[in-house]
Amino acid sequence: MPMAQDGVAAAGRGWPTRVRLAAAGAAVVLSLPPDRLPTVLHWGADPGPLDDAALAELEHAARPPLATNGVDEPAPVALLPEPWTGWTGSPGLEGHRSGRDWSPRFTPVDVVVDRRDAGGTVTVTADDAETALRLVLETELLASGLLRLRAHLTNRGSTPYAVDALRLALPVPTSADELLDLAGRWAKERVPQRRDFTVGTHLREGRHGRTGADAATLLVAGRPGFDFGHGEVWGMHVAFSGNHHVAAERTFGGERLLLGGELLLPGEIELDPGETYSSPRLYAGHGDGLDGLAARFHGHLRARPGHPRSPRPVVMNVWEAVYFDHDLDRLKELADHAADVGVERFVLDDGWFGSRRDDTAGLGDWHVSEEMWGAGRLKELVEHVKGLGMEFGLWFEPEMVNLDSELARAHPEWLLQVPGRLPVEARHQQVLDLTHPGAFDHVLTSVLAVVEDLGVDFVKWDHNRDLVDAGSTRTGRAGVHAQTLAAYALLDRVRAARPALEIESCSSGGARVDLEILERTDRVWASDCIDAHERQEIQRWTAQLLPPELVGSHVGAERAHTTGRRLDLSFRAATALFGHLGIEWDLAEAGEHERAELRAWVEYYQQVRDLLHTGTTVRRHLEGGDLWLHGAVRPDRSEALYCVTVLERHVTWPPGRVLLPGLDPARTYRVEAAGPGATSQRDPRVYPAWWQHGLRLTGATLGSVGVQVPALDPDRSALIHVEEDR
Ligand code: GLA
Repeated sequence: MPMAQDGVAAAGRGWPTRVRLAAAGAAVVLSLPPDRLPTVLHWGADPGPLDDAALAELEHAARPPLATNGVDEPAPVALLPEPWTGWTGSPGLEGHRSGRDWSPRFTPVDVVVDRRDAGGTVTVTADDAETALRLVLETELLASGLLRLRAHLTNRGSTPYAVDALRLALPVPTSADELLDLAGRWAKERVPQRRDFTVGTHLREGRHGRTGADAATLLVAGRPGFDFGHGEVWGMHVAFSGNHHVAAERTFGGERLLLGGELLLPGEIELDPGETYSSPRLYAGHGDGLDGLAARFHGHLRARPGHPRSPRPVVMNVWEAVYFDHDLDRLKELADHAADVGVERFVLDDGWFGSRRDDTAGLGDWHVSEEMWGAGRLKELVEHVKGLGMEFGLWFEPEMVNLDSELARAHPEWLLQVPGRLPVEARHQQVLDLTHPGAFDHVLTSVLAVVEDLGVDFVKWDHNRDLVDAGSTRTGRAGVHAQTLAAYALLDRVRAARPALEIESCSSGGARVDLEILERTDRVWASDCIDAHERQEIQRWTAQLLPPELVGSHVGAERAHTTGRRLDLSFRAATALFGHLGIEWDLAEAGEHERAELRAWVEYYQQVRDLLHTGTTVRRHLEGGDLWLHGAVRPDRSEALYCVTVLERHVTWPPGRVLLPGLDPARTYRVEAAGPGATSQRDPRVYPAWWQHGLRLTGATLGSVGVQVPALDPDRSALIHVEEDR
């Protein structure tokens, strides 16, 4: 361990005074004082190696003057801010022991520094004898330069300790003067919103008992005017699929913090003697521009051993094609069409089980419907699908139940509720309390039995309602925390039993998109809205967290079911291309000509999916937001695919030259119109002179001079393929 540099063991204490961890151009410098919790001296661009003297000077430089009207010993805010220090912003821990022990003062008792080639972990254990609490703070810099934080609080007393909040905080510099986070709703997830970073707290609370369609996803602070390609940014993501909060707080003392944690309901966490509460993991990244920040998340996700590596198969999901109208012959015909256009995975959605003929009944009864699929008809469909060379996928909503179901009738005590009344219904359903061992086992065994029996390769795992009044009949307490962990445990058990099974996280579309659910699922359903115009925005901002291979994106019918908008197939397909491509459209209704065009797009996706699913995401917002560019650039910069999209008609026209970012300035590239039918486009009023025959230009020219792009009508896209000319 290179202790002479970047942190030296303080005499007699056995742990360093200060530590710098660095990875992929990012660094975090921690001060580890002997008598208080660690503070972050720096989080951002890597200042390079610092010896112990330099680290001491860095800390010295960070010490503020003794401003009037503050405490006499001002100290930087700790990773877990403590009021005893004089901090009057949001405290890191709120809790008590029957009204006492409400303001702990933790003193470190152990520090473990585990350095890796890139990044590493600092684990600080701290005790407070007075309140009989132990705190463990983990700060990990991942190889991608992403920070991962977590806190564990243990009750070492002899009486219960109530935890109301446990938050961790990261400082951002005063140059971070603008905030961006995401909002949204059903079928319109991840809408960006911006504001100044003013004094006070910009607080985003998620109280849905799931991640939420309106989740902040990432809360970003940055230099004013930051965009995809420029401006230093710092962002935080709370990886939790239950209630959570994330906040940007600016105090009168000038501190600017990003804070995050679980949002605990009254009395939800009461630690018995010896018990530990663990916070969700917080992920935080620094980058140059929003693309730089996204690259840290994508890099981290792609480095996971469990990240999907096989080519992402083309999906056919039948939901918008048939809804609840399940008919063997019709579905077989759909499977024939699907196989014919190149689909590789056929997914039967809601409606195959119990008495589920619409959304009012049957949820929870995970056995094949006798009425619709009896006499082996579902098996026949599966065999038909597999006979055509496709995988078979099936929809489940394991955490939910209709009151009109065998399950709810047999076990009314398994429904989350406050004593004496059931929660208001949502989509005619209630939530099954998975902390009841009986409920957990019932769901686990019935899901696994169907998967086993039918040979299911893929599960679309849905979660279609908020948790309202979600009390446990087992404990009488608020149950969102325990339910969230139980849902994770259920997924873990399913995966352990069927390691090859792929799982999609769906929640009324994109209401369960977070990094903890992605530890146990293989893709998310980004939205129930597959209108390509809307999807451009949904996918663009989902990409702030997730790389495209984890984001399901389907080609829908000409007339979008959620919005009524009519869009050309080429635009629908070019939009779905930049994700994990699928089709959700009654292909029996489509004409032969449309199916042939779709087949060409599927083949094109199969050709470029390796580039799309390993490439670096680039996004640009041009012409005041009327013209969008996005693309994937191979990490070795030998190849890229860009997509230009006109979303609105612009005040001036044509759009002019567009810069193609991410290429190596020193290399020469061939630039070509790409995608099915691209070069047959000859209208000189729309297509630039180079469109038919391509160009040969250096990365420097493409990145700083740019090329003319087609003067498209709104809701149209054009693809540009760039490959190194060796
Ligand atoms: C949710 C999902 C949809 C579909 C329906 C089925 O709304 O988001 O994609 O699976 O449930 O009921």
